[in-house]
Amino acid sequence: MHTLKLLLSAALIFFSPLSVAEISAPKPPAAAVASAHPLATDAGIEIIHQGGNAFDAAIAVTAALAVVEPAGSGLGGGGFWLLHRESDGFQTMLDGRERAPLAAHRDMYLDEKGEVVPKLSIDGPLAAGIPGVPAALEHLANQYGQLPLRQSLAPAIRLARDGFAVDARYRRLAGFRLKALQKSPAATAIFLDQNELPTTGFVIKQPDLANTLEAIAQNGAAGFYSGPVAEMLVNRTRTAGGIWTREDLMQYKVVERAPIKTRYRDIEVTSAAPPSSGGIALATMFQILEHYPLDQLDKATRIHLIAEAMRRAYRDRAEYLGDPDFVSVPLKRLTHPFYAAGLASTIHPAKATPSDQLPGIADNRLGSDTTHFSIIDRDGNRVAATLSINFPFGSAFVPAGTGVLLNDEMDDFSSRPGAPNIYGLVGNSANAIAPGKRPLSSMSPTFLEDQQRVAILGTPGGSRIITMVLLGALEFAANKPPQAWVSAPRFHHQYLPDRLSFEPDTFSEETISALATMGHPLKEGSRQYGNMQAILWDRSQNSVIAASDPRGNGLASTTENRDASQLD
Ligand code: DON
Repeated sequence: MHTLKLLLSAALIFFSPLSVAEISAPKPPAAAVASAHPLATDAGIEIIHQGGNAFDAAIAVTAALAVVEPAGSGLGGGGFWLLHRESDGFQTMLDGRERAPLAAHRDMYLDEKGEVVPKLSIDGPLAAGIPGVPAALEHLANQYGQLPLRQSLAPAIRLARDGFAVDARYRRLAGFRLKALQKSPAATAIFLDQNELPTTGFVIKQPDLANTLEAIAQNGAAGFYSGPVAEMLVNRTRTAGGIWTREDLMQYKVVERAPIKTRYRDIEVTSAAPPSSGGIALATMFQILEHYPLDQLDKATRIHLIAEAMRRAYRDRAEYLGDPDFVSVPLKRLTHPFYAAGLASTIHPAKATPSDQLPGIADNRLGSDTTHFSIIDRDGNRVAATLSINFPFGSAFVPAGTGVLLNDEMDDFSSRPGAPNIYGLVGNSANAIAPGKRPLSSMSPTFLEDQQRVAILGTPGGSRIITMVLLGALEFAANKPPQAWVSAPRFHHQYLPDRLSFEPDTFSEETISALATMGHPLKEGSRQYGNMQAILWDRSQNSVIAASDPRGNGLASTTENRDASQLD
């Protein structure tokens, strides 16, 4: 009987019109999109229904988020799009990270005494790097999409013209940035209602942004980086104290970079390459954790070991990482299992290592914006994209007439060695400001893959992005469903400040006292953080499940059974 089956399948392979690859590589039963805003998820699904692939949908979602989630990302910002093309297995990271303007220099945010001037790298046009999103949209359409750019941009243009309704999250973030927004007349006109926080349900229409999107739809990236839009961007930025030039815009180029790959047990982890620190830090942490039977340990010991892995990865981040086009990043060494073994050997099984006992660099603040989306199409093409304008509403500055909210990504540089940025992250000369350089990022769009399962995930959250992706991936490793990855309670260690922080109600009293006994300084945060968007394709179950972080108000949809996959 068995032999007969084998013969039959051999005959099928020889005589069927399907190739072996097609037989051994099933397709996902549905396409899926998970993003931080329901209207952006709908835009992606709409483009898939029109025959677009995951890359066309990524264009639609990126552009729609720029309209309906202005606090998180936009045409005036940047990001990383991790791509997987199913037909040949090709994977790449599209680097659309902002670049420092050509007139930028190392000490531009320091006063005469060499002290960092507060807010100079956060509010207003001087805080803004040269945006990468418009160039990335064109690159995605030309290199990977199958629909014309203008078709994939159509939902965003419609949303910009028709408007979207203010919700509670918008009010919280705009309220947080109210003073900065009130300083820019164009930002005030767009994002506020008569100079004040709009009420829930107020409709934000963005005709200037619709025109800028139209210019990109018609002329590609040139519609943004040259011509009338570029002229307005440069002139109005300079009038308000910025340093952008036409040359800056003309010179902007996206770069494709090989993603960072590592293994954890039988899982292949694929994540962001420098200028993101995400992939390397994940590689370090996974390879350290490979040394321990995490699932057999008591809870406190498990958390202790994960926190010690985090501490060591973030120390290296501060020491070594920066834009690979400018500094030489010791990538091979940092991602090598021997290196991780050396780090693991310094971990005491029951005692915290004070950060000042590690070689090396100070304050942590919570990141509350940026955005992530995940997409899979029915061919198995995948996109994980984390996009940012940095702080909520970026620099809060809009050059009049463009509708484009500029980023404050320059704050991700290390303004001075050892001086913490808004997320408390420290760095040294590897991440010092230089003309044309990209600031170091924590954004970590990630794929996970084992024999049967493929995962697409990522989240905003400033310095905590990498540790959230780690914790989500550990849930995947424990065979939990995507709803568990996005909702798992979170904790974080970033080397400096030396403390183990955690979301409210994450640890029991017993775990807290066990961790304190091990010597961990503990800090319970005031609220939950992160907004993870994840997709699981399980070949063994022939299922696609998408999940959106319950902490946000995103939407996860599949082309079949849309509502079943939605978390509320
Ligand atoms: O690139 C980075 O690492 C930061 N600009 C990300 C900022 C962020 O995630 C803000 N908040 N949640």
